[in-house]
Amino acid sequence: MGKMEHKDGGTAIPVRRMDFVFDESIPTWWFDGDVVKTLVMAAQSCTFPEGERFFIRAVRAWQDGVKDPLLRQQIRGFIGQEAHHGNEHTALNAFMQGRGLPTGKVEAFVKRGLGLRDRMLSPERRLAMTCALEHFTAMLAEMLLEHPEFLKGMDERVFALWLWHAVEESEHKAVAFDVFKDQVDSEWIRRSQMVVTTLEFSLFSMLHFIRLYRASGEKLGTRGVLRRLAYFRPWLRRLRPRYLAYYRRDFHPDEVDSRALREAALKRLAQLLDRPTLAA
Ligand SMILES: [Fe+2]
Ligand SMILES: [Fe+2]
Repeated sequence: MGKMEHKDGGTAIPVRRMDFVFDESIPTWWFDGDVVKTLVMAAQSCTFPEGERFFIRAVRAWQDGVKDPLLRQQIRGFIGQEAHHGNEHTALNAFMQGRGLPTGKVEAFVKRGLGLRDRMLSPERRLAMTCALEHFTAMLAEMLLEHPEFLKGMDERVFALWLWHAVEESEHKAVAFDVFKDQVDSEWIRRSQMVVTTLEFSLFSMLHFIRLYRASGEKLGTRGVLRRLAYFRPWLRRLRPRYLAYYRRDFHPDEVDSRALREAALKRLAQLLDRPTLAA
């Protein structure tokens, strides 16, 4: 099925300029006062700036071959949005670094790992890896838009960053996928890369979390940490059907219509940022 056959397709992808300030009054454990919950999210945040630059490179490599004017326009929106996400997450990561957490080391590790993939993987595989990770971000983003209570207890100033990012991940969820379909269109590469990327994503999410937690100075013990990590289990379980849908031959990211959720989230975000409105 083509992207225009889905309701959520043909979405405008506006680049919204943000300038989040993470000042001293924000607590170190900004997610519900909980070190574990905060560092799970911080670990993801550490992967974003370099991860999103990797996505941009992976899509740009195919940009010239794309002839469809709508998709070309969406690619520009995608690149603009991802570049801005990277900047804002860099600010959050720097804030955490200021609180004594080695976010810079995790970012440097991510950069090396992705540089390696630039050299080792084919352009087809790099684009498929981008599609796979964009599916992860879209699933998590739309879960957050549907159930903002997932981040209940998060400091509102940090929550605003995640909410903004979630809206935009939902808006551009199909761009890398459509470029892949247009330019590569190999089910074998798309699916096998999802298997590999799932394993890598799980492994590295865990490693980055452990690295940050060890430096936190908190002493919850393995069982204490596992007990708190259990918070995420039902949320991850909820994503299972959507994750598996990616392996269907006729899967398309726009098959989940999230327009109403994004609209509601943008209103909430405007309130949080004390702005009259945000471009939709
Ligand atoms: Fe992003
Ligand atoms: Fe994205």
